[in-house]
Amino acid sequence: MSNFQLHSVFPTGIGDAIMHDVEYLGILKKDIISQYRKDEEKYGFETNEGPTWGRYQPGWGKWYSQIKSPDSDPNAPDQYLDDSRAFWQSDPYIHQREPYLKLMDFVDENVKHYLDAHGYVYEKFYTTIAWSNVYRHASSIHEHKHPNSFVSWVFFVDAKNAPILFRHEIPDNSIRPHVKFNIPENSFQIAWKPVNGMLVMWPSWMTHGSSPNQSNEERISISGNVMLGGKIGQSEHLTESQLDNWSNKQTQDIDDSSQFANLNIEPQPGGPGNY
Ligand SMILES: [Fe+2]
Repeated sequence: MSNFQLHSVFPTGIGDAIMHDVEYLGILKKDIISQYRKDEEKYGFETNEGPTWGRYQPGWGKWYSQIKSPDSDPNAPDQYLDDSRAFWQSDPYIHQREPYLKLMDFVDENVKHYLDAHGYVYEKFYTTIAWSNVYRHASSIHEHKHPNSFVSWVFFVDAKNAPILFRHEIPDNSIRPHVKFNIPENSFQIAWKPVNGMLVMWPSWMTHGSSPNQSNEERISISGNVMLGGKIGQSEHLTESQLDNWSNKQTQDIDDSSQFANLNIEPQPGGPGNY
């Protein structure tokens, strides 16, 4: 008899926690939708002109790109929506103002749990940027990573049951036989089922995207990046680094995404951004 054992090595930690406060979720939703509608009125979403922030980004890549329109005739040949990259993002400093400060307390509490569960030694951490996302019907975000960040998070305000997808990095030319069943050891993608009020945390290097919003109403989430502050590493191991001690409550005079219009940022599929 064989004593074969399959061991799971290098598992990746994904953390989640749920905020049970329907009233507060309603307040967040109202604030995000109001900013979204303002931008919709200001810029329109049919062209690719205007600022990168605060508008739809049509035509970016084709990851998870097309789902069948539920409005299409079931007897007709498949009709697909072609605006799957159309989504809206707010400015990236919403964590510094109301009504998001209560969410940030929840994020801070749970990021601490996440870091402590990994046994990390750290002095401080803080959310560097946070922004809201609105996905209209059929839209999703392509696969991407979050550079210049240690831990990333998303908070589902109104998830519409569209999961966030995490991908394990396997070289593109790896051998992948068809499988009879899925276990973590033979899978390269996992769908994290969202619940409204759920916060999900993961290492920022991990590739992720979202599945298309199949609802006719907007899917709404808030994303953020967390960096460590103070001293990390150890001088005796030649890994020490002193990082600035920011405060995530510091205020910046940013309340209007229109100022990003002057940055002239071009959308770059696969580029270094979070979008
Ligand atoms: Fe992301």
